Amino acid sequence: MSGQVRLAGVIGWPVTHSLSPRLHGYWLEKYGVEGSYIALPVRREDFSTAVRSLQREGYRGVSVTVPHKEAAFAIAHRVDRAAKAAGAVNQLLFHEDGAIEGLNTDAIGLAASLREAGVSLDGKPAILLGAGGAARAAVLALTMLGASEIRVLNRDRHRAEVLVSNLSSAIDTDLIPMGLEDWHKIAGDSILVVNTTSAGMKGTPSLDLRLEALPKTATICDIVYNPLETDLLKRARAANLKTVDGLGMLMHQAIPAFKAFFGVEPEVTPALRRELEEALADG
Ligand code: ATR
Repeated sequence: MSGQVRLAGVIGWPVTHSLSPRLHGYWLEKYGVEGSYIALPVRREDFSTAVRSLQREGYRGVSVTVPHKEAAFAIAHRVDRAAKAAGAVNQLLFHEDGAIEGLNTDAIGLAASLREAGVSLDGKPAILLGAGGAARAAVLALTMLGASEIRVLNRDRHRAEVLVSNLSSAIDTDLIPMGLEDWHKIAGDSILVVNTTSAGMKGTPSLDLRLEALPKTATICDIVYNPLETDLLKRARAANLKTVDGLGMLMHQAIPAFKAFFGVEPEVTPALRRELEEALADG
């Protein structure tokens, strides 16, 4: 392999449907970078062996997706603040001295996507649905957007309490753990709802929340991008609420990764979104 070609990829299982190779491939071509970014299917038990061998092969780093984000956190020699708070890493950078650096760019990706959609919290409360790994990064994003208070609603309230007690010391914003049944108490003044639960995916019913209880100016965001319009977003659109899909977060979380792997700061554009929408439509 020529030393000139910069190598990177996305490591996950399954990874066949990841849009990341298409996304980075689009930027590689657009900016004329001599590089390659491929899908790297790696089973959970093979993660650390795979990382070592990619490092040996001269990879600049890898994006990390399900189910490896916690393992990536564990393998990194140093991590950024977002990764530390989330307990998860979505980008690994391989340095020439052998050090592995872990980043979590999901939070800035989500914050940038919401900002791009015109969402500004500016001292107002927001609702976060879910208390898993994705919710932890979303808490940081909502903090970056200036939420006065983040209402963390989870089916299992105890898990929301655990998330809040784990994150409270790292974050200035008030975090309030709640159950889904508390929705009606707090929907009335919440101008943003971010869904990080997997309800509504893989044939399960979406969360049964009365969206009409939200202010008319509220925005609903779903962080998944496949399907692009989730059942929750469909219902939000029907209720005349503003919606934000998961593609914006995907594009924005990749900016720091592309810059670190390939040395160019790429741009998120409408043409890139169209390219990814096409890829999703092609299956
Ligand atoms: P991730 O790391 O992607 O966030 P996770 O840790 O499995 O994934 O978390 C999934 C989230 O979706 C959890 O908040 C889960 O709620 P519980 O903690 O109560 O299990 C939520 N979730 C999944 N299916 C759900 C459903 N049918 N209704 C409500 N919440 C659901």
